Amino acid sequence: MTTSKSRSADCVSAGTELMEMADVSDGTPTTDWVADPPAVEPEETRSRWGDFAPREERAVLRSLLRDLSNDDGPLDALDEELPAARAAGLPEQVAKNVREAVTMDPDMTGEDASSVLGGLIEYLYYANRSSLLAKYRLLQPAYRVYADHEANAESPSGTVPASVPSWIGSRWPFLGHRIGFPIGVAASGLTTNAQCVKRLFEAGYNVVTYKTVRSQFTPPHPRPNWALLNSDSIKAIGDPETVVTVNPETTLVEADSSANSFGVPSPEPTVWVDDFRTAAKAAGEGQVLICSVLGEDNNSDHSERSTDVLIADFIAVTRHAMSAGAETVELNLSCPNTTRLDDEPTLPLCYDVELAIAIVVKVRESVGHSVKLGAKLSYLEHDNLARFLDGAAHHLDFVSGINTVAHPVESAVGEGTPYFGKRLVAGIGGAVIQPLALEFVRACKQYKDENNADFAIIGVGGVTDPASFVAMREAGADIVQAVTGVFLNSLLAVDCMRSLGATMRSPLDDAEKERILQTAMSRIPVPEWEFTTSSELPVGVTAELLDELVISGALVMTSAAGAPRYLRSDADSRPSVNA
Ligand SMILES: Cc1cc2nc3c(=O)[nH]c(=O)nc-3n(C[C@H](O)[C@H](O)[C@H](O)COP(=O)(O)O)c2cc1C
Repeated sequence: MTTSKSRSADCVSAGTELMEMADVSDGTPTTDWVADPPAVEPEETRSRWGDFAPREERAVLRSLLRDLSNDDGPLDALDEELPAARAAGLPEQVAKNVREAVTMDPDMTGEDASSVLGGLIEYLYYANRSSLLAKYRLLQPAYRVYADHEANAESPSGTVPASVPSWIGSRWPFLGHRIGFPIGVAASGLTTNAQCVKRLFEAGYNVVTYKTVRSQFTPPHPRPNWALLNSDSIKAIGDPETVVTVNPETTLVEADSSANSFGVPSPEPTVWVDDFRTAAKAAGEGQVLICSVLGEDNNSDHSERSTDVLIADFIAVTRHAMSAGAETVELNLSCPNTTRLDDEPTLPLCYDVELAIAIVVKVRESVGHSVKLGAKLSYLEHDNLARFLDGAAHHLDFVSGINTVAHPVESAVGEGTPYFGKRLVAGIGGAVIQPLALEFVRACKQYKDENNADFAIIGVGGVTDPASFVAMREAGADIVQAVTGVFLNSLLAVDCMRSLGATMRSPLDDAEKERILQTAMSRIPVPEWEFTTSSELPVGVTAELLDELVISGALVMTSAAGAPRYLRSDADSRPSVNA
């Protein structure tokens, strides 16, 4: 199958600015990227360190070192900032290596350059040099763990892709919309306000869920709120007895999971309603913004849930969301991070299956069908999930899950010291929860198939790369969302598009078969390129549709000089496209 359609030509280019410089040391002209390294060529894999080709790593490193240097060179400049970076969380092993690395020969081999670049990125992240990382499109986490919630909300970080593939003409069905490539970001510290949401839409995330909001102002828990984890260090995920320890030496490269404890902060409704309206305007064609809402029994002392107050509050906050113009609302029945007044954690609402069903039923009764309604769930045992779906599925347009998994999270200082201040329990996300998330999505899909239910599934949990995206789709997710994977690699959407977009099929693509048959002729064979170039769909997808039409007998394939051509079978007797 060919994927010859040029990607770079069709990309929405962010514009590159390149300057050639003569390197006087050996007389060989080398190219230094003064700003904006050029986009990755078609069919080329990007550098593991950012959105540029691997062959540019040395040039990027040289320019970066120059930018970093003061009059006495890069080492001196580094030493000035290193204490602050260390205090912010720079792993000691990286701090040591990076000092050595900047003194190495700038003409080091590509391999060395690559590892130096990795260390420098880590240093620059903890040194709060986001704009320098952005200048070279280097990978940087989409949240600064050493800064507080407000600072992150005011100036979101993360890597902006050089371009988002515009050649993926396929559209995927979701709640009556035709969505671009079906990837998004779930409610989280990455989707806190309109500014964050706009960046995510621009980076190719097509279904974004605005961070859970409430009917009254709720401050975030004090810092720290988010920590890096490596899944190898976590045994028995999902067993609440398993204590997770945050290792301060976990590097950005090693991290594939995370722990968080924010406490579901929310501005007051007057503030978020306005901001949500602005955020919704940022959605482009094929993009959708969901509003996640959480009700609470805020008239009680939190020692016991008052069901009526809780349900009334879910209804109130859903109505606020609708007043903000939200067409799609997600009821957050799954948060592991809420606490009672005495700082004791509460269990996710959906663990009380009857209560969760009652919330869904009452909200739906109250707001009717003027809004698409979904429920965000935690991982549930099969029977409990089935019980929830028996009671709630016919009131829901979509189910989303899973949320993070609650575990005690301790600091490496030992003696049972909680990592997150006084809060011992936090939510674990990322690669380590992938098996639970896949099991949950498979169970939802099985329930749909067995019960002829028609809710959409948003699969969330452990998606960190194209392979885990595919696994989530194969489990049954209509839309795939990630948080930890995007936090660690904000290029996740374009990585998935670039590696899968050329061939990934959507159920909506089948409609294209009719157009192909109209283009085909009964007597003169039409070359394949005529079908592929006249189609909005990726070349690989059109080629697959042509194959299917040949197999069904609607087209006959001939070949001229090795190039495939297609002839329509006798127009009168050709089988129906849907056969
Ligand atoms: C920092 C952070 C904040 C989150 N906030 C919310 C939230 O407000 N509402 C919600 O429904 N889920 C929230 N989540 C859970 C995510 O939406 C997601 O379900 C979970 O992180 C699993 O996905 P992942 O493995 O890709 O991280 C949060 C997760 C993280 C890491």
